[in-house]
Amino acid sequence: SDPALVERARAAKAALGDRVFVLGHHYQRDEVIQFADVTGDSFKLAQQAAARPDAPYIVFCGVHFMAESADILTAPHQRVVLPDLAAGCSMADMATFDQVEECWDALEEAGIAGDVVPVTYMNSSADIKGFVGRRGGVVCTSSNAKRALDWAYAQGSKVLFLPDQHLGRNTAVLEMGFALDDCVVYNPHRPNGGLTDERLRDARMILWQGHCSVHGRFSKASVDDVRERVPGVTVLVHPECRHEVVTAADMVGSTEYIIKALDAAPAGSSWAIGTELNLVKRLAGAHPDKNVMFLDKAVCFCSTMNRIDLPHLVWALEELVAGRVPNPVEVDADTARHARAALEQMLALP
Ligand code: 13P
Ligand code: SF4
Repeated sequence: SDPALVERARAAKAALGDRVFVLGHHYQRDEVIQFADVTGDSFKLAQQAAARPDAPYIVFCGVHFMAESADILTAPHQRVVLPDLAAGCSMADMATFDQVEECWDALEEAGIAGDVVPVTYMNSSADIKGFVGRRGGVVCTSSNAKRALDWAYAQGSKVLFLPDQHLGRNTAVLEMGFALDDCVVYNPHRPNGGLTDERLRDARMILWQGHCSVHGRFSKASVDDVRERVPGVTVLVHPECRHEVVTAADMVGSTEYIIKALDAAPAGSSWAIGTELNLVKRLAGAHPDKNVMFLDKAVCFCSTMNRIDLPHLVWALEELVAGRVPNPVEVDADTARHARAALEQMLALP
């Protein structure tokens, strides 16, 4: 990265001192992650957001839904800054508040809303988390989805899982012993989700038809291919991958899990990793004694994560030095109150 920009970022961070707390998701670019005070998966970053209550500014190097969650979980005087407001998430955009309300109406019409506990993946807007909190549900991340679902099924007999169908299905089928047939997919673009009331009543798990545009591109063929090319390879994928990919892989877990698995791996071992490319490249660099490769060369970076680059970070930090708060992410008080309930329920999971 440009040495002049690196120097400016360093100077601005030094000038801000303890007044700024920089959080960085594992999918961020190296040029950005070097300035993070804490790096993590989305669960760890949600936990850590409130770790520095005296810092007036939190610069979130990640995507919009993560910055919203940080705003919800931090004190009112703390301001959360997203260096580029266009850093959204295509998966989060696949579930809008109106669509989810419509879905709930359909569940009511089918006579099952009273049995359904809503669970939303962290990768959703604050509006959706607020919806879930209002109905006594919980947020989950890829590192605690099973525990969140266990909790939800102790409250009701069915779950509406938003918005990632793959995380929901993979957790239910591979970790909880559900049959594929226990899950139905609700398509927000079709009347009644494209489902009959009977099908809704039979299902234990109602999956929202959303997916990650990055992880959704890994295929079973890429797993077969790497096994053929690299004898003894261990295939490790993120649970946002499609069911057939996760089933064909050897191990599955969140970004934090993937990092720990590589740390524990013996020298000389071969790993094909199915997650975002910035993280895989960083892992390959950190483990020169292991053969770390990207599961499928046709898949690329998460384009929205990549929007946070060094120029945007420098701009945001220098604005803070100048006494301005650039790109604040602020969730309205009513939404925040309900979303906080669902997030705190997640943080309290055993
Ligand atoms: P985790 O951070 O929970 O592994 O999730 C990955 C992701 O897609 C974040 O956008
Ligand atoms: Fe969203 Fe997928 Fe990018 Fe994560 S990797 S921010 S889920 S599009």
